[in-house]
Amino acid sequence: MTGVDTDANADGCRHLREPLASPAAWHGSDLDRTDDWVIAVTPEQAAELTAAGTAGGAVPGTVTRQDFPLPALAGVCRDIRRRLEGGRGVVLLRGVPVTQRTEREAEALLWRLGTHVGTAEPQDRDGRLLHRVQDTGRDIGAADVRYFQTNRDLGFHNDGADAFMLLCVRAAAGGGRSRIVSSVAVFNRIVRRDPELAMVLQQPFHFDLRGQQAEGARPYQTVPVFNFHRGRLCTLYKRQYIDSAQRFAEVPPLTGAQRAALDQLDAACDELAFEFAMRPGDLLIANNYDVLHARSGFADGDDDAGRLMLRLWLTLPGGRPLPPAFAATREFRHSYARHRAWAAGHTAGGQRAAGGQERI
Ligand SMILES: [Fe+2]
Repeated sequence: MTGVDTDANADGCRHLREPLASPAAWHGSDLDRTDDWVIAVTPEQAAELTAAGTAGGAVPGTVTRQDFPLPALAGVCRDIRRRLEGGRGVVLLRGVPVTQRTEREAEALLWRLGTHVGTAEPQDRDGRLLHRVQDTGRDIGAADVRYFQTNRDLGFHNDGADAFMLLCVRAAAGGGRSRIVSSVAVFNRIVRRDPELAMVLQQPFHFDLRGQQAEGARPYQTVPVFNFHRGRLCTLYKRQYIDSAQRFAEVPPLTGAQRAALDQLDAACDELAFEFAMRPGDLLIANNYDVLHARSGFADGDDDAGRLMLRLWLTLPGGRPLPPAFAATREFRHSYARHRAWAAGHTAGGQRAAGGQERI
């Protein structure tokens, strides 16, 4: 294969030295021209989702896809998985019926729908499977606070697991606009502009773990931003946590080349992003390896209930093989382990699965 450096890095990934052709390498202007990445919920599907929210008993982690079939949505869920792995890597499901529902019902609805797209993974050290993304009033200056718990501007980053689902229950009174960008397109732009900086980004960076590490473990992780593995480019990026890892004495200062590469990456994200406002009932679903997302800071009103997003992190059946560099990362270790288990022919519950994959 041309453009691939046979000189593998420490984690066994080969280096990619030329742009990668992929349906996931879209530009923001592409999404601006079309709504083919948007799926509108039909009245029949909305009724099914409402039933999923109001049926009761859907505590995250206790309800499986077998417990609550969604026949009207089966084709949509298949379509979503196809788009996430092998397509653009991003889908917006519009018209999810949340506005007349309680927060608990919205959580149940998202959980039940999520079980039909993938397998939910923990999002924090306590193992919580469904997160509420809202301003808790906590200060990002505290060592264990993560940005999703604040109303701060949030730079381009990926979440954890193969994919995330982010359901808008309430929008902010002001701000909170969303941006998404193809990390494959971003890589392609960097490698065309400055191949050496593209190489720097395929070497390890230190990321702050924001207090999510296991007891006694290092408070940071070390992993490349771009990881080319078995023909796919897998990205792990969050500039704010790379910068905040500099607070640890044992983390070496970023080099000039590393800073230049990160600046180039941020610039390419800004150039290639698509910006939009999520409305109540919008469900954004994206593959974390192919798509980075960001949001602007926001302000809740004095008298309203405040911006609320509900979030799942999912491992996808049929998901790509992951680079070994992800095996111990906070974001991707659960998906890494689950794919290995599936490949070995076992479900998480220990039962034999047909074709080495979980049936869905
Ligand atoms: Fe995020």
